[in-house]
Amino acid sequence: MSAVRRIGVLTGGGDAPGLNAVIRAVVKSCLTSYRVRVLGIHNGFSGLVELKYRELDRGDIRGLLPRGGTVLGTTNRGNPFRYVFRRPDGKEEIIDATETVKNNFERLGLNALIVIGGDGSLSIGERFYREHGLPIVGVPKTIDNDISATDATFGFATALEVATTALDRLHTTAESHHRVMLLEVMGRDAGWIALHAGLAGGAHMVLIPEIPFRYEPLIAKIRARERLGRPFSLIVVAEGAASINGTQVFQGEDRVTGWKRLGGVSYTIGQEIAARSGYDVRVTVLGHIQRGGTPVPRDRILATRFGVEAVRLAVQQQWGQMVALHAGAIISVPLAQAVGKLKRVEPDGQLVAHARAIGIVFGDENPEDVAATEG
Ligand code: F6P
Repeated sequence: MSAVRRIGVLTGGGDAPGLNAVIRAVVKSCLTSYRVRVLGIHNGFSGLVELKYRELDRGDIRGLLPRGGTVLGTTNRGNPFRYVFRRPDGKEEIIDATETVKNNFERLGLNALIVIGGDGSLSIGERFYREHGLPIVGVPKTIDNDISATDATFGFATALEVATTALDRLHTTAESHHRVMLLEVMGRDAGWIALHAGLAGGAHMVLIPEIPFRYEPLIAKIRARERLGRPFSLIVVAEGAASINGTQVFQGEDRVTGWKRLGGVSYTIGQEIAARSGYDVRVTVLGHIQRGGTPVPRDRILATRFGVEAVRLAVQQQWGQMVALHAGAIISVPLAQAVGKLKRVEPDGQLVAHARAIGIVFGDENPEDVAATEG
């Protein structure tokens, strides 16, 4: 088993605050503790298809800790198993670029590849490890916090901070105008951002994909608050939420890959609530503001610890593993155990129960029970 001398690192999928902190930790740890060289691969796996990379040295990581985004660039369209290839005539087609990646891996003299990504990029990494024997180590990232086998992903705490601040701001204007305010947050098929923001920002209703809702309990809650002399309400809506009879709302679809982008469901919900309650309703869709900008300290620390442990796994040649947070410690788990199944909010879990206990309505309650509560 020859020693690891050169490690590649890439960031794939949607960005998340803290990606640069991982890159910084990888480079620092490699140079300080192991004297290993680091190649930064540009734009996720695309960089290995198109051979776009640069060597990362101490000078490249200066000032990276508080910086949002990723200095390596990223893409949602970089899957080498179904690669979107732009032909000279401008038309796009899907090709298999697996062999190109393997050849370029050899050409760059890489002994290891650290893949920092969400479920999509980690699945690609897992497949390269399982089917082609590439020496892969995974680092989980996503603001959605929906990756199995880790207690948390970095980026989530920052997104939550942004969503909570938004809710605090909506609170004062909702109260002044006696309005129902909806805040739509990201999260895809998981309601973690919505539920946590709802708890932290004092929302009265939270709609998440894991709990299909009906309008009657929502209207009952609005009326109950009115009777208490609180004629305004705050509703956090996860972008993937849907009513019992409805479906998720998508903003668009990538023509070539078929990737569907959620967003905008709160406009439909807002209209329905306005029609049924007679209230003045306003909708705010927070969007990518949750993903951009500087990471909060908790994300910087988690990202740094993930980066250090990923390098340790790579140097010890523990391939096919992913770093994960478990009960405060950074551990490693097989990538295969982490990908392909999302970690979602448990409708019967303690977090939802605690929210219900303070009167937060999810839309699956009996409207009479909601009406009978103290707002
Ligand atoms: O997975 C992270 C995420 O921000 C989701 O919450 C959201 O649905 C999606 O990415 C948005 O993707 P894009 O940046 O491609 O619009």
